[in-house]
Amino acid sequence: MAMLTLGILGSGSGSNMQAILDAIQSGKLHARIALVLSDNPDGYILERAKNHGIPAELIDCSPHKTKFAEEIQKETADKLKRAGVDLVCLAGFMRLVKNPLLDAFPARILNIHPSLLPAFPGIEAWKQAIAAGASETGVTVHVVDSGMDTGPMIVQKSVPIDPSDTPQSLHERIQIVEHQLYPEAITTYAQRLEL
Ligand code: GAR
Repeated sequence: MAMLTLGILGSGSGSNMQAILDAIQSGKLHARIALVLSDNPDGYILERAKNHGIPAELIDCSPHKTKFAEEIQKETADKLKRAGVDLVCLAGFMRLVKNPLLDAFPARILNIHPSLLPAFPGIEAWKQAIAAGASETGVTVHVVDSGMDTGPMIVQKSVPIDPSDTPQSLHERIQIVEHQLYPEAITTYAQRLEL
C-alpha cells in the first residue's frame, strides 16, 4: 500500500490525533499527517501537533460559535488539497462538515464518535448514555456524510457502562478504545479504497 497522506481536523485536546501519530511511529499505520487544522485557538491539538513538527493551523470560524461557514469550508478544503491530503480524519471536530468540503473529499472524510451510533449522536455522547441509563455504549468510526454523526459505518466497538461510572470515568474508558480503534479503522478503510 502506498503511503497515505492524512489531514486532521479537531477542536479539543487531540488525544486521537496523538493515537494516530503513535500508530504511524510504531509502524502500525503506513501514513503521514500532513496538516492539522483546528477551529479552537485554546484546544491543545494545535500545540500538540506543532510539538511533533506537524504543520498546524487555526481555522478562524469566528464570530460563529458552532457554524462552519461555506467560505471557511472552502478555505479548509483548499488547505487540505494543497497539503496533498488523501484522507481527512475528524478527531473531536465539533462543527458540521458540509459542502464544499464534503464535495472536495467525496467518501474521503472519516469521523470518530464516542457511542454506538445511531445511538447518542451529537455532543458529549458519554453523558447522554449515562443519562439514558444504558448498560453499554462504545465507539464508532464512520464515513462522514452531510448529517450529524451519520454516514456509513467502518467499525464499532462496545464499552460497558458500570453503575458507578461518572461521565469522566466513562469518557476515559471510551477514549482508550478510541485510541486503538481509529488507527485500525483508517488502515481498513484505506485498504478498502486502495488509497
Ligand atoms: C473524542 O472522544 C471524540 O470521540 C469526540 O470528542 C473527543 C475528542 O477528544 N468527538 C465527538 O464527540 C464528535 N461528535 P480528543 O481531542 O482528545 O481526540
